Amino acid sequence: MAEKQFAGGSEAEIAVHWGEEQLIHPTVEFIAQANMTDASIYKRFSLENFPNCFKEYADLLDWYEYWHTTLDTSDAPCWKWFVGGKINASYNCIDRHLAKNKNKTAIHFVPEPIDERYEHITYRELYVRVNEFAALLRDFAKLKKGDRVTLHMPMVPELPITMLACARLGVIHSQVFGGFSGRACADRIVDSQSRVLITMDAYWRSGTLGDHKQNADIACGLAATDGQKVDTVLVWQRYPGKASSPTPMVKGRDHFVNELLKDFYGARVEPEKMPAEAPLFLMYTSGTTGKPKGCQHSTGGYLAYVAGTSKFVQDIHPEDVYWCMADIGWITGHSYIVYGPLAVCASTVIYEGVPTFPDAGRAWRIAQDLGVNIFHTAPTAIRALRKLGPDEPAKYTYNFKHMTTVGEPIEPEVWRWYYNVVGKGKAAIVDTWWQTETGGFLCSTIPAITPMKPGSAGPGMPGIHPIIYDEAGNVIPPGAGRAGNICIQNPWPGGFQTIWGDRDRFVRTYYERYCKNPKSKEWRDWPYMTGDAAVEAPDGYFRILGRVDDVINVSGHRLGTKEIESAALVVEEVAEAAVVPVAHEIKGREPDLYVALKPGFTPSRELEKKISDAIAREIGKIAKPRKVWIVKDMPNMRRVLAAISNKKDVGDVTTLANPDIVEDIRKMAG
Ligand code: WT7
Repeated sequence: MAEKQFAGGSEAEIAVHWGEEQLIHPTVEFIAQANMTDASIYKRFSLENFPNCFKEYADLLDWYEYWHTTLDTSDAPCWKWFVGGKINASYNCIDRHLAKNKNKTAIHFVPEPIDERYEHITYRELYVRVNEFAALLRDFAKLKKGDRVTLHMPMVPELPITMLACARLGVIHSQVFGGFSGRACADRIVDSQSRVLITMDAYWRSGTLGDHKQNADIACGLAATDGQKVDTVLVWQRYPGKASSPTPMVKGRDHFVNELLKDFYGARVEPEKMPAEAPLFLMYTSGTTGKPKGCQHSTGGYLAYVAGTSKFVQDIHPEDVYWCMADIGWITGHSYIVYGPLAVCASTVIYEGVPTFPDAGRAWRIAQDLGVNIFHTAPTAIRALRKLGPDEPAKYTYNFKHMTTVGEPIEPEVWRWYYNVVGKGKAAIVDTWWQTETGGFLCSTIPAITPMKPGSAGPGMPGIHPIIYDEAGNVIPPGAGRAGNICIQNPWPGGFQTIWGDRDRFVRTYYERYCKNPKSKEWRDWPYMTGDAAVEAPDGYFRILGRVDDVINVSGHRLGTKEIESAALVVEEVAEAAVVPVAHEIKGREPDLYVALKPGFTPSRELEKKISDAIAREIGKIAKPRKVWIVKDMPNMRRVLAAISNKKDVGDVTTLANPDIVEDIRKMAG
């Protein structure tokens, strides 16, 4: 295997190496109704027809002005799509559907408490609420085109309402995952220079109505220390008119949205006609170094790409009820709960809470209640649902025609449970491989055209041309049986434009490695490096092995090792910290943390807990290590620690300054 070529302690090194699987074909019923059954789509989107092939996606949208240049490469590798085009994302997701579909449900909201009613928001109602809130943002919060605003909101309809209101004004939203800490929120406020924060007082999670307002206070305090003052905090109330959080409002800064909104009832805001390449939003993601990267996504290219993939890969029709169980705080939610589905006039489901609350049947009851027929989730959730209630799906009468898995590699065993038990042997599955940076899918099958293969994401999407390079820059051909760095040969409209405020880092991180000529303005010279390891089968299907860099994919979400290590160093007793990925049954990967203490401090259970709590406080619960190992000294080589954590051979350690410590640590880790 090719493991040797990867940096020490990478996910690719601990990937499960399962064998080739048989192809599985979708049912005739699925094919008969599918949006895309014409196999010539691959030919239409071949490299010879690049970039004009993407007109097919852009034509799914309504433009104020059509573009004159499909792809402008003059600022390579910052690509500009559909240049000259004018468009508004909010108009495309709402207004244009009103003529035919105003009474159709746009959003089904499912609160976590089982005794609370579902809410069904029609496109007309969405139009009214987005307009009123857009007026408030413009006239009260004084936000205008190009401003950035940070959102720190839970899974409630007010979140897409807020996003679409921003989009209506051309204001760039930056939603921070609700489960992230006030500290994480502050870092994103500072980096994006937001003077307005939009949040909610409380939300339900696993049966508890947690105080979320407190995070806003922490975030604003820390942001101010770091030089970014937030002058306005808009607080939605989970129960309008009722206090759900004990944290007091700060006079002059904090305002309840539902109180202010009364002044804007009936207000209408003309959508801004935005240039296609104007940024629509920022989405922060973890990288190899400490600071999260603000991935800047465009308006026209992004929306075209998510609309096209929602239609052809998610197979969304007007009569479908579509449920993506991701959180809108991640890219999956932006692209495939909000922008993609609403652009194609779907009914999209938003569920506030945990899929296994109060029991393992909850998700299937929701699907049954709402008539969900397209279901979208991550392997981590599938593993959890399978473990807790392997026989639950059979008890309910929902009927899925289509299911998605996304976020991390799925083991063929888990895939088969998803297919046979959740999908009842008839739902077509797509395994979509992509990233925060890429806006939409990179590899996936087109469900009625290309058959499924458990554990493989499938071929490149139409118009996406993956290529695998080895460390020396040679192409690894299909069927070679070797893994390498998977890259994309060409730009595509959904790709991010840059890292907010850091073009150099953008070029360095994603393009420098395999760039053929740094002066070139030709897209052919700039393969995009994904940071994943993959193997290509003889039939052109890609199997993704995981990250080759210092990023850990926990439950389908990226955490930077440096970020976790910095959080550990906040604890005064800690001198050094090193984090490594460990295989985990449900989460896919989990961080294991090794720390060495400053002289004079002694290890204890309390200290382990203090360190673990500090990480949850600094980043969020998702980053909590499986175990904190307090060690005497650090071999300071992630490869060695990862081998110990994963119970593998540590290899040659003779070059370490302190080789004896390795044996000590190994004994301790059992
Ligand atoms: C990383 C991106 C894409 C939205 C959710 C995560 C891994 C993603 C798959 C898949 C195997 C996958 C990759 C990628 N990944 N989808 N279908 N099979 N691995 O977005 O947080 O930006 O993470 O998730 O390692 O690079 P993200």
